[in-house]
Parts: sequence; C-alpha cells; structure tokens
Amino acid sequence: MVAALDGQPVRTWTRRDADLTARDRVLATLAAIRAESTDPIICVNAAAVADVDVAERDPRTATLVNAQAPGWLAEGLGEADLMVHLSTDYVFGGSGSGSGSGSSDGGGRATSPYDEEAPTVPLSVYGMTKRGGESAVLAARPDSYVVRTSWVFDADKPNYVTVFRDRLLAGGSVEALIDQVSRPTATPDLVSGLLALVGRRPDPGIYHCANRGQASRYDVARAIAADLGVDPALVRGIRTAQAPSRPAARPAYSVLGLRRWCEAGLPEPRPWRDALHDVLRAAA
Ligand SMILES: NC(=O)c1ccc[n+]([C@@H]2O[C@H](COP(=O)([O-])OP(=O)(O)OC[C@H]3O[C@@H](n4cnc5c(N)ncnc54)[C@H](OP(=O)(O)O)[C@@H]3O)[C@@H](O)[C@H]2O)c1
Repeated sequence: MVAALDGQPVRTWTRRDADLTARDRVLATLAAIRAESTDPIICVNAAAVADVDVAERDPRTATLVNAQAPGWLAEGLGEADLMVHLSTDYVFGGSGSGSGSGSSDGGGRATSPYDEEAPTVPLSVYGMTKRGGESAVLAARPDSYVVRTSWVFDADKPNYVTVFRDRLLAGGSVEALIDQVSRPTATPDLVSGLLALVGRRPDPGIYHCANRGQASRYDVARAIAADLGVDPALVRGIRTAQAPSRPAARPAYSVLGLRRWCEAGLPEPRPWRDALHDVLRAAA
C-alpha cells in the first residue's frame, strides 16, 4: 500500500508482500521496490515477533524475524538508502548493573534510566532476538539508526491502554502490575520522533525514543481512570508474583534514558501523561 507521510510517499510492506522468515523473498521484494524509483529509500522496520510470550514459545521464528531479517533488510538497501530499525527496552534486564548511573535499590533493581550505551542483558527470547537484530543491522549497515522504544500505545490497535480503558469504561475493575516500570510511549509521539531523526540525520547508531517520565502498568491504569473520571479504586495494584505466570520474564525496570537523543538536538518527547490524555481524547 502506498500512502503519504509528511508529504513523502510511504509504501507499507506487510507479511503478504514478503514473509520475513525467508531471506530470498526479503531481498527480492526490496529489489523490486528499489527498481520502482531512483529516489533513496528510508526503510523503517517495525516488523517483529513482538508478543513476548509468543517469541518465548517459538524461538526459531523469533530468531528469523527479530534477529536475522533486520540484517537482510539492511544488506539489501542501496548506497544512498537509510535503515531505521525499531528495537525495545526489553534488551535490558532491569538489574542495577548497566543502568545509566549504575544505581540500584537494595534488591539489585535498576533505579536510573538506561543509557544507550549501557550493556544489554535481555531476560527473554524476545529481548535476546531483538538485541540480535540491532547487531545484525549495524553490522550490515553501520550508518543505520536503531531506535529503542517502550510500552507503545495508541487509540486504535489493541494494547494495554485500550484494554484498561475499555474495562474501566465498562465499569469493570482492573488488576495492574506495580513492580514493572518503563516509559509508556504513544505511537504518534514515536512517529514524530522518527521523522525528526531522519530529518536531522545525527550520527548513526543506537537511540532511545520514548515519552518522558516513567510508570508501572498500575500507574498507567490509575492515570486512565483519573482521565476518564472513573473511580480510581477500580484499579488494584498487584505484584508479578501474584499474577498468572507467563512464559517470558519481563524486566522490573527498563526505563530508557534519552541522553544521545537530546545531545543530538532531537526534540525530547513530552511526558507520557500528556500523550495518554491525547490518545484517550482521540478515542472518545
Ligand atoms: N508494542 C510495544 O510496546 C513495543 C515496545 C518496544 C518496541 N517495540 C517494537 O516496535 C515494533 C512494532 O511492535 P508492535 O507492538 O507494533 O508489534 P505488532 O503489532 O505485533 O506488529 C508487528 C508486525 O510485524 C509483522 N510480522 C511478524 N512476523 C512477520 C513475518 N514473518 N513476516 C512479515 N511480517 C511479520 C506482523 O504482521 P502480522 O500482523 O501479519 O502478524 C505485524 O504487522 C517491533 O519492532 C517491536 O519490537 C514495540
């Protein structure tokens, strides 16, 4: 499908165009797109086995899609093209070692945002394969951008915000985790960030792009309740150990620091609560 973003033509590529588990199909599809125009391509790879539990159950497919295909895409681009690859806060493990300032609480949990250059310690197949994708992209095309983001939400596609919103609007109660903390990020803010990045073209490499602040899922659910004007007591905080067990481990703390982003002169995304407010209004 061809659409327009910021006045530029955008061609979306889905599984129907080429399954990312097959290198030859990926390269052939890219070559066909390349042949259509001599204009440089900006290839934004948002495809992934992004369900953390699905990745845990099917590491083979997760490895192909998350770790290998990004490298094939980067490899198939021409000299003048640009690769922008989306990655995740789940490359971090939530422990104190490796965080921006190295600080942690008494239990070894990180308490300060992760720097772009902090060592990655993924806890899950998803995190490991996404880290593999980062390396594959930068090995194939060192002039690429790897953009890590976190806890993405918007008004349309089902996500944790729409689930909390719909339950609360229906008068139901919500149980939300208090002991996993990250940076909720609105899709429109992420898209603005990506546009700013490709417009400005700072030094290549890894960047973090996420709305400002930090929150647990409980904080997000409470903020939604407050915004919708429903009883905040409908939101109950629970710990991961009290929730049904899931195949993949999640980091307790995966807040992304924006040092490189800001040093590059890119606009710092607004606080997550403001973005949440707009997304809830858009859906009303
Ligand atoms: N959501 C978050 O909170 C979050 C946080 C940090 C980073 N990210 C990153 O942001 C990106 C987008 O995530 P998302 O949450 O929007 O994921 P999503 O909704 O699951 O979208 C992933 C897309 O990848 C496609 N895909 C999966 N396997 C494929 C294959 N074998 N061949 C071709 N396409 C394939 C899916 O196609 P189908 O619909 O056909 O399956 C889907 O369109 C990912 O790189 C993810 O790692 C997301």
